[in-house]
Amino acid sequence: MADKKATLTLPGEADIELDMLSGTLGLEEIDVRILGSKGYFTFDPGFTSTASCESKITYIDGEKGILLHRGFPIDQLALHSNYLEVCYILLNGEAPTKEQYEEFSTIVTRHTMVHEQIHHLFRGFRRDSHPMAVMCGVTGALAAFYHDAMDVNIERHREIAAFRLLSKMPTVAAMCYKYSIGQPFVYPRNDLSYAGNFLNMMFSTPCEEYVVNPVLERAMDRILILHADHEQNASTSTVRTAGSSGANPFACIAAGIASLWGPAHGGANEACLRMLEEIHNVDHIPDFLRRAKDKNDSFRLMGFGHRVYKNYDPRATVMRETCHEVLKELGMKDDLLEVAMELEHIALNDPYFIERKLYPNVDFYSGLILKAMGIPTSMFTVIFAMARTVGWIAHWKEMHDDGIKIARPRQLYTGYDQRDFKSAINK
Ligand code: SDX
Repeated sequence: MADKKATLTLPGEADIELDMLSGTLGLEEIDVRILGSKGYFTFDPGFTSTASCESKITYIDGEKGILLHRGFPIDQLALHSNYLEVCYILLNGEAPTKEQYEEFSTIVTRHTMVHEQIHHLFRGFRRDSHPMAVMCGVTGALAAFYHDAMDVNIERHREIAAFRLLSKMPTVAAMCYKYSIGQPFVYPRNDLSYAGNFLNMMFSTPCEEYVVNPVLERAMDRILILHADHEQNASTSTVRTAGSSGANPFACIAAGIASLWGPAHGGANEACLRMLEEIHNVDHIPDFLRRAKDKNDSFRLMGFGHRVYKNYDPRATVMRETCHEVLKELGMKDDLLEVAMELEHIALNDPYFIERKLYPNVDFYSGLILKAMGIPTSMFTVIFAMARTVGWIAHWKEMHDDGIKIARPRQLYTGYDQRDFKSAINK
């Protein structure tokens, strides 16, 4: 029961008392659920001031640049944990004991293969299909292979689906890449780490032994950690909305992949790299900055700005360090990094960006690291989707554990009032 109340005063009507809700951290929230019964809706396109659910998984303070997963700061997890341990934390709420971690990672490792029939699914796509289109289609199609545990009302079925998705997404992601370049699919290997196995499935061929570079393995693992979850972002909200109807988990994750693909969201890392390639030379930066500020120009500085972070994205800080580590390891002096560093420096000192609190976000550096690792731009968002799968699943499970209520927003209708219909074609 809320101990504080807000009073809504309406013209010519009795005041309406609304409960004020307080969480562990963050802003106080006004519970507006009773307004419908009082004859009113709230209006908030894009939900910029609306909480869609209660959650214990991730907390973001955009003003302070804070990101916590089950209370653990993202920089500590990125520097001292690994992706599978972070997956355990997101899904179970606590850090695992050694025994719990061993059991969890063994289950994930032993379910990384996909049904052989899925290899034929890929044959239906053109080789030059965008890998995100293929990943979205194949992920949704997984529902056709796992009828044995698809009753979302049974907790054990939800747990099995979670492990299947967590285990198989790297395999599907790597298959999307191999298919696009006409190389044979590479089977997962149980002797490799989650990140190492993905790199092996991406880059090894039957022609010679592929040795996983430990620096790149660590960088990939860190990229996966930094993209694992991010509260109620567009794609996670999509997964929750799809799941609220009782849809199967594979369909929900496919819906999340579709939403993440947008350039304003997860597609930004691919768009950011294409932007850096288009800028190409530090001398061209002023013209692109002018375009970014021009309201009549749809151009946005990709990798900058964030709906929530009005301070530096804490993930970008860790990603920046990783970017320099990878380029140093590979002995690469990347011209695009030079453009990126200069762009960051100029933008962070430009009044337009300072006034609007537009800082580099997680996507600004991730694209540079992935490019340095030899991963094609079209695969960047596929890797983001692979990493975010655990966050999507954690929220989907939390929604079911809390008792699902179908999502059904209302609207402000500004169309025609009722009018009679007269057809001009059917006399
Ligand atoms: C992700 O939600 C999440 O958590 C997402 C994510 C996750 O982990 O799930 O963090 C991942 O999606 C990161 C964001 C990646 N997207 C990009 O890098 C694309 C470029 N960024 C912009 O599209 C934009 O910043 C958004 C969409 C990210 C945020 O938009 P907002 O908060 O709605 O900001 P806005 O559109 O209201 O902009 C406020 C002002 C506007 O100018 P004014 O009207 O006030 O004059 O800032 C300007 C905008 O024009 N602005 C930009 C800009 N971003 C905002 N101007 C130039 N370049 C930009 N990138």
